[in-house]
Amino acid sequence: MSPEFHDTWLVTGGAGFIGVNFVQAQCRRGGVRVVNLDRLTYAGNPASLAGQMEDPLHIFVQGDIGDAALVRDLFAQYRPTAVLNFAAESHVDRSIMGAQPFVETNVAGLVTLLQESLRHWRGLRDQARQSFRFLQVSTDEVYGSLAPEDPPFTERSLYAPSSPYAASKAAGDHFVRAFHKTHGLPVLTTNCSNNYGPYQFPEKLIPLIIHNALAGEKLPVYGDGMQIRDWIYVADHCEGVRTVLEKGKPGETYNIGGRCERTNLEVVGSICEHLDRLRPQSPHRPHQELITFVEDRPGHDRRYAINDSKVRSDLGWQPVETFDSGLLKTVAWYLEHQDWIEQVHTGAYRDWIRLNYGDRLSEAK
Ligand code: NAD
Ligand code: DAU
Repeated sequence: MSPEFHDTWLVTGGAGFIGVNFVQAQCRRGGVRVVNLDRLTYAGNPASLAGQMEDPLHIFVQGDIGDAALVRDLFAQYRPTAVLNFAAESHVDRSIMGAQPFVETNVAGLVTLLQESLRHWRGLRDQARQSFRFLQVSTDEVYGSLAPEDPPFTERSLYAPSSPYAASKAAGDHFVRAFHKTHGLPVLTTNCSNNYGPYQFPEKLIPLIIHNALAGEKLPVYGDGMQIRDWIYVADHCEGVRTVLEKGKPGETYNIGGRCERTNLEVVGSICEHLDRLRPQSPHRPHQELITFVEDRPGHDRRYAINDSKVRSDLGWQPVETFDSGLLKTVAWYLEHQDWIEQVHTGAYRDWIRLNYGDRLSEAK
């Protein structure tokens, strides 16, 4: 007997960090068939979905959101009731090395996905047409940088992206909005702050620091380390996305954040403390001594902070984890999943580390 489901969601980028966490949570919840479309770039890892590959409500398709024929076939075959777009090039430092892949996926690929969603939505009737949703997972980086005394970003903050990554996400958000205004496509946009948690690729600050500290390697902190990010545990973000999908008003934007502003130095220091405690026999204790200040990221945004009052008051969402509880879970997860880290620790990963950190670390004092 085939399992029951009331909806089918086309989830893109579901082999990446946030997408995997979203798909896993949804598979545990049940009731929805998930068609997971992921190109499997360096950031996508099917091994993260090992537990879902046998689930009849999870269908994995390797492919590109910019492949119009493929996306059209998926719409025809599975008749999704919603599209959730997590697929993206997501790393700021890589966008500084080369912006083209960011334009291809975050702008051109997204527009293809929107175009095919529009075609599908136009063919729907009555209730199916009313309830269809396209949800774009976006970022707080579109709003640019805050000064220390500025209030946190609201949904009305102006777009002022600093990096090529942020510019590509901002362009994407404008296209999503334009498809709503021009064509009436029922879209939702979420702009979230920095996520952390299981399955994050170790090019991003928190998993990189955990990985390097365990190996006794230097912990590279850009500039003075006083940049501020607003951290949210990935499961809380995923629950926020689901809440917006189910309760959000078409055409609206919702900011999602953790109300957890920390400097990068504080974050790195907390990871070191957790590791000192959880790995008392480590020859690299105290891990703080591995901290190395390196050349800053060009165009580095000084501070992000999210005002998430709208999603809290209108939709009733709020995060479960504090930064302390979420970080402890995260460090513990990486300690327990060294095999996962080893798997992503490929030659291509080492090439990236050399490219981004080689000169920085050799010039560091
Ligand atoms: P990630 O880089 O870990 O994963 C991205 C996934 O998208 C990968 O599995 C990759 O294979 C896939 N992908 C890339 N290009 C594709 C394409 N053309 N077609 C199909 N699949 C493709 O990213 P993440 O951190 O999980 O971020 C997911 C989304 O959330 C992104 O849109 C990002 O902008 C947004 N976001 C991330 C954060 C964060 O802190 N990580 C915060 C706010 C918003
Ligand atoms: O704010 C949301 C964004 O958060 C998402 O849209 C992006 O996809 C995601 O990558 C993240 O962007 P950041 O640039 O803030 O994350 P990252 O982990 O790369 O860096 C966090 C901070 O740490 C930032 O101020 C740069 C700094 N940093 C980062 C690395 C990789 C270092 O000091 N050293 C490092 O080696």
